[in-house]
Amino acid sequence: MSRKLLVINGPNLNLLGKRKAEHYGSLTLETIEDKLRHTAEDAGLEIAFFQSNHEGEIIDRLHSAMGSVDGIIMNPGAFTHYSVAIRDAIEAIQIPVIEVHLSNIHARESFRHKSVIAPVCIGQIAGLKDYGYYAAVHALNEFLDRDGA
Ligand code: DQA
Repeated sequence: MSRKLLVINGPNLNLLGKRKAEHYGSLTLETIEDKLRHTAEDAGLEIAFFQSNHEGEIIDRLHSAMGSVDGIIMNPGAFTHYSVAIRDAIEAIQIPVIEVHLSNIHARESFRHKSVIAPVCIGQIAGLKDYGYYAAVHALNEFLDRDGA
């Protein structure tokens, strides 16, 4: 059975392509998901996508991943900076998560420097625009190889 990855995008990421290109690039979320599908297929992985602007829906999706998903790539959007509830969900489900940001949150406003999510993730990728998501597929696959999942 092939390994299953889930990509979760949080609030406002459905507007990619319309948001500030200097931070987020010019690709739509649909295009990024298409590219991710190819990246995953080339690596022999299954991949699924979920986007929501609602904290509770993201938490429900994290919970339902238990037992059916091997690894998660997540851009929590602005929830990154304050959602203790999403952090607690990630901690509870015990599925490895890589946090991804299109922009370099550490080079922006100080309120974006802190991630309450990062401490419960295996790693964080920030500032590589859409490439960060594709890199995360390879990094998660490698992590799962080493971890024996
Ligand atoms: C973001 C960075 C967040 O600070 C911001 O609220 C977003 C997108 C990023 O991908 O760079 O919505 O997560």
